[in-house]
Parts: sequence; C-alpha cells; structure tokens
Amino acid sequence: MKNVTKIGQRLSVLDIKARKGGEPLVCLTAYSKPMAQLLDPYMDLLLVGDSLAMVIYGLETTRGVTLDVMINHGAAVMRGSKRACVVVDLPHGTYEHSHKQALISATRVLNETGAQAVKLEGGVEMADTVRYLTDHDIPILGHIGLLPQKAENRGSFKIQGRDDEGWDQVMNDGLEIANAGAFAIVIEGTVEPLALEVTASVRVPTIGIGASPGCDGQILVAEDALGLFSDFTPSFVKRYAELGEEVANAAKAYAKDVRARDFPSLEHCFGVKKDNK
Ligand code: KIV
Repeated sequence: MKNVTKIGQRLSVLDIKARKGGEPLVCLTAYSKPMAQLLDPYMDLLLVGDSLAMVIYGLETTRGVTLDVMINHGAAVMRGSKRACVVVDLPHGTYEHSHKQALISATRVLNETGAQAVKLEGGVEMADTVRYLTDHDIPILGHIGLLPQKAENRGSFKIQGRDDEGWDQVMNDGLEIANAGAFAIVIEGTVEPLALEVTASVRVPTIGIGASPGCDGQILVAEDALGLFSDFTPSFVKRYAELGEEVANAAKAYAKDVRARDFPSLEHCFGVKKDNK
C-alpha cells in the first residue's frame, strides 16, 4: 500500500488506516506541549495515553485520571504538534457504562482538544460501543491484549494469549473491534505469534507495544524510551536515551553553582552597568 504522508500537513486517521501493510507507523506517547514539539517531526501518531496517570501523576495504575485531565493534556499536545495524528485516551469510567456516556466523553475530548481520534480499551465487549461511536463520526483507535485499565495494580499487568482460551479471546477481540469500525488497533502485552496472527487477520493497522515486530506500527511510552521514568521498565521497552541521568546531573550542577554564588552571574541580571569606568 502507498505511503500517503503529506508534507506539511497533519496526518489524518485515514492516512493512518491507509498504512496497513505499508511503511511501519511510528508512534509515541506525549503528555505536554514541549515534549510534543520535540517528538512531532518524527512521529506518525502521538498518543495522549492515560499512562500519564502513572508516569506524570505517580499513581499505581492508569485509573484515577479524569476526562478533564486528559483534555488538558490533549490540548497541550495539540498546541505542540503540527504533523502527527493526535489520539487521546478515554480514561477508565468515562465510556463503559452506556453508548451515550461514551459519545458525550468522546465528543468533549475531540471538541475541546482538536485531536483527531480517541482510544478506548476492550475487545468483544466494547465492539457495540465502537460501532456506535464510529456511526456518530468519532474515529476510534482500539486497544486489545493487555488492558491496563482493567489491572488492579502493576502486578496484574499480565501478558495475554499464553493459553488457548486467552489466544482465542485476543483474536476475537481484534476481529470484532476492526469490524466495528476502529481505524487502527493497539495490541499490548500479547505473545508474539498471536499479535502477528491478529495483524494478518484484520484490515486495519495494528500498533504493537510488547507485541510483535510484524505489527503495522509500534508505540512506546516516550518517558520509558527516553529514560525519564525509572519506577519500573517493562522488558519490552528499549531505552534510546538516559535523559533521567542528564536531568539529575544538570540539577546537581545548578545546586553547586547556587551554593557557591556562581549563579546568577551579572550577565543573567538586569540593570547592570556594562562599563564601570
Ligand atoms: O496509555 C498509554 O500510554 C497506552 C499505550 C501504552 C499504548 O495506552
């Protein structure tokens, strides 16, 4: 399939969908304007993931962030990005209760952030909701396999598809969510051959995280990949930088300068006479 990326334009969900079987989709999470500005030129899709609950707010799981919080971060990422397709997570408790609730939440996110789509977690049980939302022109990124919103704590983040029952479930989840109209599907924490089989079986792109190199794209939490979040690092993460160490070293150098009265120097001050002669 042809790569339909347009120079100087934001990628749409249709551009993302058209990448099925083509050049891999490059995706990272972003939660803030400055991070979005740095990542945007290289990304096809930026996800304002509810992982921010853990990464930014220090919570034990992704539960506990509100729709308002997601909207604030989504709007910030939109201000910092020009090119990537921006998708915002619907947080736990804001879409599962009724189709109407899901529509109200998703509409608020799209209207108040300007993002291109929302993501929601779940397979077969969420297929009717996905169909309802897409029928109402809400573009949906699905999310199957390991579902962090269902986890009680970090310990219950379990790799999916290890037995026949689990395998069939993830397979059916992928088929149902694709048939319901999702433009792409995140497959998280799933055994590799199953992620590959789902990818081969659905007509929309799959985006893997702890899944398979054969997915149509890959996503990571940016802070994990950049070494900015060290509470724990899942084994599927590759570290591309150790920015946490850089930040700590900079903080140490600043503290030393302030204590030694080496900062600020007069060049950092206002109203200083340049020439005292
Ligand atoms: O919330 C998130 O960051 C996610 C990604 C890990 C896919 O859902």
